[in-house]
Amino acid sequence: MPANNPFRPSFGVSPRVLAGRQDLLQDFDVALDEGPGSPLRSLLVSGPRGMGKTVVLNELEDIARTRGWLVLRLPEGTDMLEELEGSTVPALLAEHDTQAVRRRLTGGGISGLGSVSTDVEDRYPVRQSLTRMLGRLSEVLAVHETGMMFTLDEVQDADPDVVGRFATVYQHLVRDEREVAFAAAGLPVGVDQLLRQGGTTFLRRAERVHLDLLTDEEVAEAARATVTEAGRTLGDEAVGAFGQIVHGYPYLLQLVGYHAWRVDPAREEITARDVHRTRPLVVERMGRLVHAPAVAPLPEGQRSYLRAMAVDDGPSSTREIAERMGVPMQQQNVYRARLIGRELIRATGHGFVDVTLPYLREYLRAQPR
Ligand SMILES: Nc1ncnc2c1ncn2[C@@H]1O[C@H](COP(=O)(O)OP(=O)(O)OP(=O)(O)O)[C@@H](O)[C@H]1O
Ligand SMILES: [Mg+2]
Repeated sequence: MPANNPFRPSFGVSPRVLAGRQDLLQDFDVALDEGPGSPLRSLLVSGPRGMGKTVVLNELEDIARTRGWLVLRLPEGTDMLEELEGSTVPALLAEHDTQAVRRRLTGGGISGLGSVSTDVEDRYPVRQSLTRMLGRLSEVLAVHETGMMFTLDEVQDADPDVVGRFATVYQHLVRDEREVAFAAAGLPVGVDQLLRQGGTTFLRRAERVHLDLLTDEEVAEAARATVTEAGRTLGDEAVGAFGQIVHGYPYLLQLVGYHAWRVDPAREEITARDVHRTRPLVVERMGRLVHAPAVAPLPEGQRSYLRAMAVDDGPSSTREIAERMGVPMQQQNVYRARLIGRELIRATGHGFVDVTLPYLREYLRAQPR
């Protein structure tokens, strides 16, 4: 009896089998060994929607945890620092600072619920700065030869002011040679915008990691492993079909797998036919969940640029795009640069551009003008 469907076509949910990304994860692992000051301890991961940014962030967190590091996810919103200072870090100190515990045990009198917070507030009143509390926490962790890692997802939505204030705190820790690491992830445009703001210098110094499409081999390997570990088989032809439909896009690896599995879960083998059958659904989901949200906020010029590209089945000539749009090449260049910045398109050889993510053309062609 085969197991449950092992594919996870949901944003923010880690896959059963991770495809690719090994180099990055290994580099980070090494950076934690190298000690404070290793450049790969601050990472800024960017890439289009569904490229696996959150998954990478989760994997990085796991690497830190495996080494006994504390992982602090920076909460979203403008009161991020207040939350850290007011509850998250005091709670961690209560848990890890043995001196605080000793005080609690020897202090007498107070017992039962609430004593922890009372004590910790004693030792670390909220007014005391976040920097000092984190410094103390890192001292405590250093005894166990571990450190702390901060992560921030959806960095494009973060308030630059708040990020700037966090940066100050983090830089203190770095300057004091504490065992700390930081990883953030976000959409390319938002990340660039954030970097342009004052106060985010430390983010600018972070190592930029750009997530790319997976190779066909990485997709094949992960698809096969996911299926076999769950008790079914995927033949060579089916693996080939996977590659053709997925186009290296991580979200599709999960989506195609999920629906191919569902065709007949009781059958042992997943066939190429099962895989090919998912195509209409793939085109529809990609349009609705990935392309529509990316295209909707674009100014009309960029949208019409994409429509001019959608006429072609493969890479488009920039000269022909300009002709189709009826604009001079210079104007074409402006649109082109903007769309490349958003990672919706990429340059492919001299004078040619192609869409970055699969099925964007199909989406655009299906739109009423
Ligand atoms: N390396 C990978 N191997 C296999 N599946 C992956 C991989 N990376 C991501 N996925 C799958 O792709 C989907 C999207 O991943 P994730 O949510 O991390 O993307 P994201 O870049 O964070 O997207 P968003 O911009 O919406 O936040 C999930 O279903 C996830 O399981
Ligand atoms: Mg994400």
